[in-house]
Amino acid sequence: MNRFTTILAIAAASVLMAQCTAKKTATTTKSPEEIVAEVKKNYSEDQMEEGKTIFLGSCGKCHDLKEPETRTVEKWERVLPRMSQKAKLDDVQAGKVRAYVLAHAKI
Ligand code: HEC
Repeated sequence: MNRFTTILAIAAASVLMAQCTAKKTATTTKSPEEIVAEVKKNYSEDQMEEGKTIFLGSCGKCHDLKEPETRTVEKWERVLPRMSQKAKLDDVQAGKVRAYVLAHAKI
């Protein structure tokens, strides 16, 4: 192999590798830390306070309040959609409750 083909081969290999990494990050599910960081970025303190108010008002009707700190982010992500439905929250309310809960959940 002359120098040119070597450089070409290295270039091709790095393009392939870059594509591989890009695909990986796109399909990998987010870590709890990433989910919490995203929620904190997208919701203001005020919105989270509203979430807390909704949580306190709606989530203790059928059972004792399940405090955010008692469960992990992962667990809440599985439970909240179902419970928000049970509590008849609209999407905006559910989003605020999720933000409040996840910001205080176990990692
Ligand atoms: C209409 C009644 C009702 C409302 C309102 C309700 N829940 Fe529940 N919740 C249940 C029932 C019934 C269960 C137990 C069975 C189940 O997991 O579906 C439960 C279970 C749970 C659990 C335990 C799940 C587990 O597997 O550990 C959590 C956490 C929870 N609810 C959180 C919430 C939150 C947060 C809200 C407010 C958004 C909420 N619930 C509103 C009825 C309700």
